[in-house]
Amino acid sequence: MLPKKLAISIELFDTILSELRDSVTLVDPNLDDSPLVYVNRAFEITTGYTKEEVLNKNCRFLQCDDQNQPEIQVLREALKKGEPCQVVLKNYRKTGERFWNELSISPIRSDEGEILYFLGIQKDITQKVDLQKQLVLEMCDLRDSNKNLKEQAETDALTGLHNKRYFLEQYPAQFTFAQRNNLPFSLFMMDVDHFKAYNDFYGHIEGDHCLEKVGQALRCVFKRNTDIVARYGGEEFAVFSVGGTALFGAKLAKKLQAEIERLNIEHQKSEHEYITFSIGHVFVQDPAVCSHLELLDIADQALYAAKSKGRHCIVQKIIE
Ligand SMILES: Cc1cc2nc3c(=O)[nH]c(=O)nc-3n(C[C@H](O)[C@H](O)[C@H](O)COP(=O)(O)O)c2cc1C
Repeated sequence: MLPKKLAISIELFDTILSELRDSVTLVDPNLDDSPLVYVNRAFEITTGYTKEEVLNKNCRFLQCDDQNQPEIQVLREALKKGEPCQVVLKNYRKTGERFWNELSISPIRSDEGEILYFLGIQKDITQKVDLQKQLVLEMCDLRDSNKNLKEQAETDALTGLHNKRYFLEQYPAQFTFAQRNNLPFSLFMMDVDHFKAYNDFYGHIEGDHCLEKVGQALRCVFKRNTDIVARYGGEEFAVFSVGGTALFGAKLAKKLQAEIERLNIEHQKSEHEYITFSIGHVFVQDPAVCSHLELLDIADQALYAAKSKGRHCIVQKIIE
């Protein structure tokens, strides 16, 4: 209740309401189709309709053909129960322009509790909503570019395989996973034989083509989601594969060699006259017996042994 000396006339009250930036409306639910019986100046400015055009009409005309909004159902139910509620509706100005209307309604009751009017306060929050949408879009863009950047940082641009950085990040984690779960695994270190001679003789562009094809062959052989397949350096590749048996690992190594032979890439500077591959394969049955760094060393030694044996071969080491 206002203090007595602040008691004001309806006209003064209307003048005060006309100064507000938000729209104020009164709806009479006791009249047919619950029409508007009062709108302030801000309502006219926001919607573009004059009070003469809107009084005695239900306010739903602001929805135009957009009446399937879920929030309208929320509003309907609150009105039916005579409860206050707040919704955000898509409304349309007289010009047809869409605006976002944050509508709060409250029942105004007589002393006996009968609903005399519903008071509506409408805030045009179009700028805020559009800004939020813009922000969400920008955040999605940012997330996409972050994802792309991360992918780029983890991928070898030439072969599309993972790069060494990714391998060295993921390999220790997968190694620990295998250790904890007592799973056997294989580590393969491999490289293209006489690749420097190939590059010198055929040029870097051909050298790159050769590595691309080798990358495809690796992808064909090591297909499991959990396999980490990476270009480890120039012509060197590494694969870490959890599970399987020593025999299965050996089969994969042979299959890879066969795939590379099938590429049939001429190499006049090699004793084999085509591109060949040396593979060092370590199979670990009991993951508790070595560390991931030791294992890298052992795989390197196996690759070195394959090279020393005349290249184009597989050296397998089993750790039990
Ligand atoms: C006080 C009051 C103000 C309202 N103001 C709006 C408004 O600004 N925009 C709107 O789309 N609907 C407004 N409505 C809601 C509609 O008048 C109507 O109640 C709603 O569309 C659901 O009823 P219907 O299913 O008969 O359309 C208001 C309702 C009340 C009671």
